[in-house]
Amino acid sequence: MELSNLEKRVLVALGEIGRENVDVEEIVKKGFTLVEVMNALSWLKVKGLVKIHEKLEVEYCLNRRETLPERLIYDVLKERGEISLSELSDIFPREVVGVGIGHLKKYGVPVKDGRLIFKDVESEIVKREELLKRMEQGCVPEAEVDKEIIKDLLRRRGLVRKREKVKRYVTLTPAATKLLEEGVEIKDELTQLTPELIQSGKWRDYELKRYDVNMFAPAVYGGKMHPLSQIIEKIRRIFVEMGFEEVETDYVFNAFWDMDSLFIPQDHPAREMQDTFYLSKPEKIEIEDKDYMRKVKEMHESGGQISRGWQYHWSESIAEKPLLRTHTTVNSIRYLYKNREPPVRMFSIGRVFRRENLDSTHLPEFTQIEGIYMDKDADFSLLLGILGEFYERMGFPEIRFRPSYFPYTEPSLEIEVLYNGKWLELGGAGIFRPEVLEPLDIKYPVLAWGLGLERLAMITLGLKDIRELYISDIDWLRDAKLL
Ligand code: PHE
Repeated sequence: MELSNLEKRVLVALGEIGRENVDVEEIVKKGFTLVEVMNALSWLKVKGLVKIHEKLEVEYCLNRRETLPERLIYDVLKERGEISLSELSDIFPREVVGVGIGHLKKYGVPVKDGRLIFKDVESEIVKREELLKRMEQGCVPEAEVDKEIIKDLLRRRGLVRKREKVKRYVTLTPAATKLLEEGVEIKDELTQLTPELIQSGKWRDYELKRYDVNMFAPAVYGGKMHPLSQIIEKIRRIFVEMGFEEVETDYVFNAFWDMDSLFIPQDHPAREMQDTFYLSKPEKIEIEDKDYMRKVKEMHESGGQISRGWQYHWSESIAEKPLLRTHTTVNSIRYLYKNREPPVRMFSIGRVFRRENLDSTHLPEFTQIEGIYMDKDADFSLLLGILGEFYERMGFPEIRFRPSYFPYTEPSLEIEVLYNGKWLELGGAGIFRPEVLEPLDIKYPVLAWGLGLERLAMITLGLKDIRELYISDIDWLRDAKLL
């Protein structure tokens, strides 16, 4: 049986006082605080060594010390044999006379023609005085007071009061009795083991407090980061460790940056109102760099020297339409616009907006983990390597790559993970097409990806419904594991 130092000391103290129905306060008197005793007792109870019974007990306590009025009058009366009320009024205040005489009459002292006649009622007064004297030492339990006497004292304005109290009594179980008979060795207890104690071997002289993590204890909920924030922190760390720089931009762009610069044709279905949130104000966001714009326009219309383009008439006003960014690839292209020489290693984690219907795997507002990697010898297998490395570091078991299509990458792929028996799409990736890079005069391969954060989080946290991430259910938040 594992007992802490305190438990042992309380047990021994208990054994010294008695085995059955020992008042907890008696144990406290042996040199503990009440908290120590209660703490030890509750553990001793769990360990089957004591039984604790609680009883609601009534006791009576003194509020103030005073000489009883009947005592004052009685002493004078005893001396004089008899005394008139008016004579008493000369000696004592009015209340004392009134109340005092009332009590004396009750004890049987006769009154004749307005005069009190002496009669020995000493014992009646003493009974009350004795009880009050006892109360001066502390409250007196109901069982130890005469019912009539206490009733009388309670009637005297605020002299004594009744108090209810939970009393606890402890009884040793046979197991505890046996333990005490065998002898309980009390050693000093250590709650912390220091290197010095280990090196010197002194730890042998102490008892080490053991922890049982299976023992019941009230739950304590400290503050912690939201699980999603924890995941974002982890992703950030992974990319930074892999040598990437983080970039964040804005939510509002014109279609030029979100789409045209990425060689998305102006009649692409993703540009439709039902897929993209356009803004009515401002009416348009002008394209600043007209030179770059002309190159993009030419690429869309005819493909310049390297491509056939999309073969349509490109419109500046369509490109000026303001919208909520539909993907963070807008961050990548803007970063490339400013950083055209290798090496480029950039990532961003940001909110994007799409007119999606909300369901268990779709949110109209979600977060993308975007990245680009430009280097002279970057190639498709490196892209797969980066993505594989990332998901491995995130602790993902099984991912697969599938060929896919995006207007701005070639080749393109999709990353999928097996979750609840279904392949779930986690994001897209590819190598930027020459039609995207040519207007920027970039000569080297750019690997690019855009991954969904919430789906990744949903899998990491084992959620069935992606919406749970944004419902602040306090129990779920409290119980969420630290990642
Ligand atoms: N932008 C794509 C999406 O939102 C993902 C992507 C990014 C694909 C970069 C290829 C390259 O789904």
